[in-house]
Amino acid sequence: MSTERADVQQIKDRIDIVAVISRYVTLTKAGSSYKGRCPFHKDDTPSFWVSPEKGLWHCFGCGAGGDVIGFVMKIESIPFVEAAERLATEAGLSFAAHKSDGSRDLLHEISIAVSRWYADNLVNSAPGRRGREYLVGRGYPEETWERFGLGYALPGWDHLRKRFSAKYGVKPLVDLGLLVRKDDGTNYDRFRDRVIFPILDLSGRPIAFGGRSFDGQPKYLNSPKTALFDKGNHLYGLSWARETMQKEGSAVLVEGYTDVISLHLAGITNAVGSMGTSLTQGQAHLLGRFVKEVVISYDRDTAGGMASLRGMQILRNHGLSVRVVRLPEGDDPDSLVRREGAERMHQLIDAAAAFHIFYIESLKERHNMASIAGKEAALEEARPFFQEIRSLPLRQEIATRLAELLDLPFDGLMRELARGRRQQRPEVGIEQEEHHWDPQQVILSLLLRGDVTWERVAALVSVEDFAPRYRPIVTEMAQTRGQVDPSSMTTFLDADSAREVSYLTLSEPLWSDVEKALQDALERLVELPEIENKLKDLRGKMENAERSGDRRHLDELQRAYSTLVAQRLSRRRRDGKKQAAGQR
Ligand code: CTP
Ligand code: MN
Repeated sequence: MSTERADVQQIKDRIDIVAVISRYVTLTKAGSSYKGRCPFHKDDTPSFWVSPEKGLWHCFGCGAGGDVIGFVMKIESIPFVEAAERLATEAGLSFAAHKSDGSRDLLHEISIAVSRWYADNLVNSAPGRRGREYLVGRGYPEETWERFGLGYALPGWDHLRKRFSAKYGVKPLVDLGLLVRKDDGTNYDRFRDRVIFPILDLSGRPIAFGGRSFDGQPKYLNSPKTALFDKGNHLYGLSWARETMQKEGSAVLVEGYTDVISLHLAGITNAVGSMGTSLTQGQAHLLGRFVKEVVISYDRDTAGGMASLRGMQILRNHGLSVRVVRLPEGDDPDSLVRREGAERMHQLIDAAAAFHIFYIESLKERHNMASIAGKEAALEEARPFFQEIRSLPLRQEIATRLAELLDLPFDGLMRELARGRRQQRPEVGIEQEEHHWDPQQVILSLLLRGDVTWERVAALVSVEDFAPRYRPIVTEMAQTRGQVDPSSMTTFLDADSAREVSYLTLSEPLWSDVEKALQDALERLVELPEIENKLKDLRGKMENAERSGDRRHLDELQRAYSTLVAQRLSRRRRDGKKQAAGQR
């Protein structure tokens, strides 16, 4: 699908999304949209919506969604190119999907040449000095650069274009995402003044790039989805890790480029990276080809988050066993291994907890087991988790541990978990989640609906403020300055992100006052985390004061701490009230 954005957009513009979906789903008109029963899950109430205006569909029951091409892909189980071709034919367009080997070969050739050029710039160019010093400072001396193909993208807007367009033309460079095309038809280099991490395919050929800035935003910039690369179907470092993975039957899954490299340098050569997104079906499938077990090593905050729990569940459903490393607070594998060495990392990997134990322990951290309300909340959270576990022995073991944790009789607990199953799922589904939208979702939704402009948001918030699952969407917005409508945006996003887009665009908004909703969300997104940071900082200082026995200092710190906690509480209350008041 090395077609241009314009080609795909043309298909979408010509095709009547309602007509296409109507072949599979009976749709009835509801306002400016259509609704019906979702073909992707057992849907008793119509929870499947199609918006011809936005060119998107979404099921609020099972969470599936996307554009018309995504729908055909999913319902016919066919790849993108085939779905796009079918729809193109139907629209009377010729969609020359560049799937002939010739053009793929060319894209591979270009990627290799560009990767070499980046590597050369790192070693030899004058501005590359910044990259050289950065890498050495991060513990990657020159001897390691070639092994990982590291490079440097020159500062300036057109070095790559000037170097490669004469030989290859502009189009394949745009198709590879190396050049970004502006509305006025001109192009500029995507990667500028960044350290380059090539992403290789299984046979070790570069197919995409990640670029790290020294201080600018966003911290990492990646190649978009191209004919050679789709983030959700690749793992960073797989070609280097493959052999050890197969030999050991196990992979260490980390998030970042530098995590992979630092682990490999420390001799942990079965490490691969999910590249920051929550783990996808495609990545799980890939892992399943080589290993039986995946040891997850994310930083502490990420590991306990719902997105990563979902990823673990995906792995389990692919028949993989999952264990979770517990890193010290504030560390990622890269920082840990460089500070404490390979031996320590090995110990932590050996001691990684089985998934269900990790999960149940993580419940203890999120809820207060000493209170009835805390127990109820933990039970509520564990219910969907429990229901997705397919293995009977494992369900048994989890229930036993839960009974212990909650101090409840086993039989009663089992009944309770099963009861929730019938009650909760079909009728209510995901729709309830709308009432718990976090500020990131509110902001993205406002942007996608065109209620606020990108500039307004960009002034206060950066890509890094968003959770990894939203970053592809935000990055796409940042690159196009919000000029692209949701439906054409989905073409260049992975399936998970496309689903987020359709969800956030088509959901009933929870606010009546756009300005208020935006202000609240910005405040919550930007300020609460700052309070959290200060609290973290204080905790460190309190520990030190305690250790050195400085009681007076400790008292002072504790007073400061309580003040902040109170502030946080009142903020949260206020936010809660505001949100409730803003709902209609
Ligand atoms: N990532 C991304 N885009 C961003 C931020 C992160 O694609 N804007 C991906 C990258 O693959 C990155 C991974 O998410 O390696 C983890 O992100 P993060 O933990 O923020 O960075 P680190 O890998 O720890 O980066 P560093 O150590 O260089 O600061
Ligand atoms: Mn890091």
